[in-house]
Amino acid sequence: MKNTPIVAPSILAGNHAHLAESEAVIAEHGLAWVHLDIMDGHFVPNLSFGPQTLKDLRAYSGLYFDTHLMLDNPDKYIDAFIDAGTNSITIHVEPDFPKEATLKKIRKQGAHAGISLKPKTPISAIEPYLELVDIVLVMTVEPGFGGQAFEDAMLPKIEAIDQMRRTRDLTFRIEVDGGIDEHTGPRCKAAGADTFVTGTAFFRAKDKDAFLQAFA
Ligand code: DX5
Ligand code: ZN
Repeated sequence: MKNTPIVAPSILAGNHAHLAESEAVIAEHGLAWVHLDIMDGHFVPNLSFGPQTLKDLRAYSGLYFDTHLMLDNPDKYIDAFIDAGTNSITIHVEPDFPKEATLKKIRKQGAHAGISLKPKTPISAIEPYLELVDIVLVMTVEPGFGGQAFEDAMLPKIEAIDQMRRTRDLTFRIEVDGGIDEHTGPRCKAAGADTFVTGTAFFRAKDKDAFLQAFA
């Protein structure tokens, strides 16, 4: 059975002095998910925001909080993001920390667990964790900044992960993140993706309902 498509706008591309307004824009267009990009300045060369921001945003919306931890030591922050009210936590496979225990901990605390890989990371790196996750987040740009160009070379990677999902009879979502717009989104969908993070393109789109039609 196929997962229904979900569009998850990233408020990294919103106005950081008014993030609750960015959340409201997402909900106004009938969307259920918001993507929250957390950066530590080590794993990626940028800083964003942390659990306090999520906690305060939680008070303004009932959206599904899809949290993407771009951190060297995400295991140290699971409790903080759970307490802040997130619905999912996605960790990266590249840094050195106890990944299996961290994924199990996320699920044990009642949230969905995700694993992500950078463009240059091979699929073999995430294979041991596929049974432990609800989301595989395929980075389609180098993580760190919004507004970068989608990497076409990620399409075969999405296809291979989709194939693996079928072979192992698993149901995790395949989420794509980076340079996703009304052109690249449908290409990822054809390759097997069902969950679409879109920052710059969503917030810039003048006719957001028309933009969202491309993902339906
Ligand atoms: C990049 C982040 C993305 C980013 C996507 O490190 O993980 O979620 O906000 O932004 P766009 O859609 O602008 O590429
Ligand atoms: Zn992200």
